Amino acid sequence: MTASDAVTLDAERVIGTYTRVPVVFVRGSGTCLYDVDGKEYLDFLTGLAVVSLGHSHPVVADAIADQARTLMHVSNLYYNTLQPRLAARLDALVGGGGRVFFANSGAEANECAIKLVRRYGQLNGGHDRFHVVTALGSFHGRTLATLAATGQPEKHEAFQPLPDGFRHVALGDIGALEAALDGRVCAVMLEPLLGEGGVHPLPDGYLEAVRALCDEREVVLVVDEVQTGFGRTGEWFGFQHADVRPDVVTMAKALGNGMPIGACWARDEVADAFRPGSHGSTFGGQPLASRAALAVLDVMEAEAVPERARVSGARLAAALAGLDGVAGVRGAGLLLAAELDSDLDARVVTAASLELGLIVNAVTPTAIRLAPPLLVSDDELDAAIEILAAAITEVRA
Ligand SMILES: Cc1ncc(COP(=O)(O)O)c(C=O)c1O
Repeated sequence: MTASDAVTLDAERVIGTYTRVPVVFVRGSGTCLYDVDGKEYLDFLTGLAVVSLGHSHPVVADAIADQARTLMHVSNLYYNTLQPRLAARLDALVGGGGRVFFANSGAEANECAIKLVRRYGQLNGGHDRFHVVTALGSFHGRTLATLAATGQPEKHEAFQPLPDGFRHVALGDIGALEAALDGRVCAVMLEPLLGEGGVHPLPDGYLEAVRALCDEREVVLVVDEVQTGFGRTGEWFGFQHADVRPDVVTMAKALGNGMPIGACWARDEVADAFRPGSHGSTFGGQPLASRAALAVLDVMEAEAVPERARVSGARLAAALAGLDGVAGVRGAGLLLAAELDSDLDARVVTAASLELGLIVNAVTPTAIRLAPPLLVSDDELDAAIEILAAAITEVRA
């Protein structure tokens, strides 16, 4: 199939919910992607922070192939040997003392969290205790409840009425949060670093202050680690940069390195709010996805990915900061945004980079997001910087 055949058929038969970039990929290996014409690209977006071990990692690919030939799926009406092992591994990474529900995406992991905290809130505080407070600028997913949780009112307009019970406060404003936490609030839900909202880290001390306030008001703290989880920011989870323990942690993206899987961890007392029948998922935690995730965690632990993200992230951030055309760099580990000089449009620079063989995206009209594989080499980092510099020069010329 040619690139133009694929684009034409896609336009005819796929519902157009994305403004796609006109490139058609057919293969990936490590940090590289290849299009239908054989052109090579450095992938510094990793399918939106998903392919953290690089494309087609052999250990993960072998585990998936072996499991596909052994047992792909049994219903959650029965046990399998892989789901509980994965749950135990995730519990240990988060800090212990909790249990996990498995889903298939980030939105579903958050949907589970929202249902769980509502149930917990109502059991402990009465019928009206179901409100969830999130940050303005946050992103939590595209299902109706996670869209309502997402603090971007412009995304809500077309889908009213959305589920009731969500409030949004300015990020970093602890006074605003304090004012929002009345007796009807059951939970605060936060990303430890706004990903889709522009790669904005939380202000120093904010998460600790939120935790203290949640304790005082007996409100559950949910941390959405869908984009930041599994070493991306230089710790296993973004919240681990702060001195806090959340009550609920949601995850997805990098957990499967491309295999769709999501997970919602909750400390035991909160998890107890669910009973058989409270929630479910046909595919969640099935053998194929769980085996892939176990292989991902094996490689991540063997490769010490948080440490690698810290070291490579520091190198990439320093190189970006030195680029002509970059006004500032923000983020953590290997989840970075380069804020461009005011004469540059991030979409135009991103398109020029793609032409030159580097995949990044315009996370805002003025900032470029970089999220390469956590196993990225120094040579690849240097090559990406060279391409970005050339793209900026070309755009300015
Ligand atoms: C922080 C965060 N939460 C939730 C989601 C939704 O995840 P999914 O697209 O897998 O439903 C995303 C997706 O980008 C995200 O970044």
